[in-house]
Amino acid sequence: MTHPIVIEHLGFTFPNKKESLFSDINLQIEKGEVVSIVGLSGSGKSTLCYCLSGIIPHMRKGRLEGKVMIKGRSTSEMTIPEISTKLGILFQNPDTQLFSPTVEDEIAFGPENMGMTRSAIAKRIDDVLEKVGITKLRFKNPKELSGGEKQLVALTSVLSLDPEILIFDEAMSQLDSDGKKMMKKMISELKHQGKTLITIEHDFDNLRVADRVKLLKNGKLKDFNGEL
Ligand SMILES: Nc1ncnc2c1ncn2[C@@H]1O[C@H](COP(=O)(O)OP(=O)(O)O)[C@@H](O)[C@H]1O
Ligand SMILES: [Mg+2]
Repeated sequence: MTHPIVIEHLGFTFPNKKESLFSDINLQIEKGEVVSIVGLSGSGKSTLCYCLSGIIPHMRKGRLEGKVMIKGRSTSEMTIPEISTKLGILFQNPDTQLFSPTVEDEIAFGPENMGMTRSAIAKRIDDVLEKVGITKLRFKNPKELSGGEKQLVALTSVLSLDPEILIFDEAMSQLDSDGKKMMKKMISELKHQGKTLITIEHDFDNLRVADRVKLLKNGKLKDFNGEL
């Protein structure tokens, strides 16, 4: 069976830099697996997420080496809309992904672009709000919410397209303890539904939901042995 994600000899260098941020990264992720990646701030975790989600090379410049394959196809050969039906990403800073006037519109944006019917979209909105436990925020302006609430709204908008692969870049960083509990439960549920997850974690306490933990350090991805 084709792996949901295969990373082969991946390297990336920012346009204004001489040295690569990372190089020769290799990883195969199984369907239904939760892989967490840890590493010091600045080690390149978010940039790696951009490579996994096709943002690099499609929207950011730099020298990309090797490749990322999503379900057997190289991200370089796919378009962003094609990728987004298979893979959803929750950014480290939710402000970068919230742009609609209400939470409801935020959730509807992806499904509307996919051409889903009005009634199917309405149901999707109800479902994801309930799942994430933020039905009461439905008509709020995302920009006026707290950091933790924004992360939850961003989560609902990612879930609205029901992607097979999900990337969470420090998605729990601004959540309170209830939010963290919900997020861990959500990760387990998604795993049981057969979804494939990559989570970037800062707090080691969040690693309990992972099947495998990798460390990004000095431009290489290694098995994590408990030390950064
Ligand atoms: N657009 C950019 N141009 C040049 N350097 C960048 C850019 N974005 C991030 N960096 C640098 O790349 C390194 C890795 O950043 P990042 O991927 O955000 O790391 P992490 O998520 O692990 O904290 C940092 O040193 C950062 O300053
Ligand atoms: Mg980061």
